[in-house]
Amino acid sequence: MITLHIDAITTPYDEKNPERITGEKTIVIIDILRATSTIVAALESGARGIYPTMTVQEAFDKRDELCSSGSCPHDILLGGERGGLKVSGFDLGNSPLEYTSDVIRGKTVVLSTTNGTKAIRRSLHANCVVIGSFLNGTVTAKHVLKEHRDTVFYLSGKQGYFSYEDAAGAGFIIHEILESTPPPRIELTDSASMCLDLFRLHKDNLAELLRNVSHGKYLDFEGFGPDLVYCAEKNISDLVPVVCGTGLIKPLDQ
Ligand code: MLT
Repeated sequence: MITLHIDAITTPYDEKNPERITGEKTIVIIDILRATSTIVAALESGARGIYPTMTVQEAFDKRDELCSSGSCPHDILLGGERGGLKVSGFDLGNSPLEYTSDVIRGKTVVLSTTNGTKAIRRSLHANCVVIGSFLNGTVTAKHVLKEHRDTVFYLSGKQGYFSYEDAAGAGFIIHEILESTPPPRIELTDSASMCLDLFRLHKDNLAELLRNVSHGKYLDFEGFGPDLVYCAEKNISDLVPVVCGTGLIKPLDQ
């Protein structure tokens, strides 16, 4: 059996080495607070798909493009945040708790966030881009093993800074990979090993971890405390969101 090489991108410098996220690789995007958690929540609630954008203006333009190419305007929702708060003119913010089935079922979401959707868009030169979170960690680990390609966990971070919760989220998925049977032959880089260690340090109280990290404290101050509890939930979803050729994020096999 070939050895699976697993790495983790933890700082913006890593993004400047595009070869690390291009080619025959599986890229797992992690933005625990909250973009990848929200994407999983929206798809669990029946969203048709999610278009990640780089900028707010691109989100408005994408909505107009979809409407002018035949999509009904009420089937397209704009979602996302800047500074954690809903963007003026958007239908939804970036709290996963907003993306309930009564709001989102059958809709296409155009999503723009400060860090997470940018990380997704930067990864599109790789041939497999997967959306990971605590919510769908184990099923994501199984998909990584099934794809059996060199894998890079792309920690979205916060405004260019390292994100502790993203590292722990990647660590959960790496832990699940290592726990699988038969035990795979895995080679971890130091950054991937760090992610694993951080998860194992906090695995019994992830909600507490999210309350104590810098972005968690900020979100709690802004009134998004319940998001921290939700985003800490392990394996409440069996979906593996992947980025399709059109740029639309949909559950695998749908
Ligand atoms: C991000 O992109 O970092 C998150 O969307 C920020 C947030 O939701 O508060």
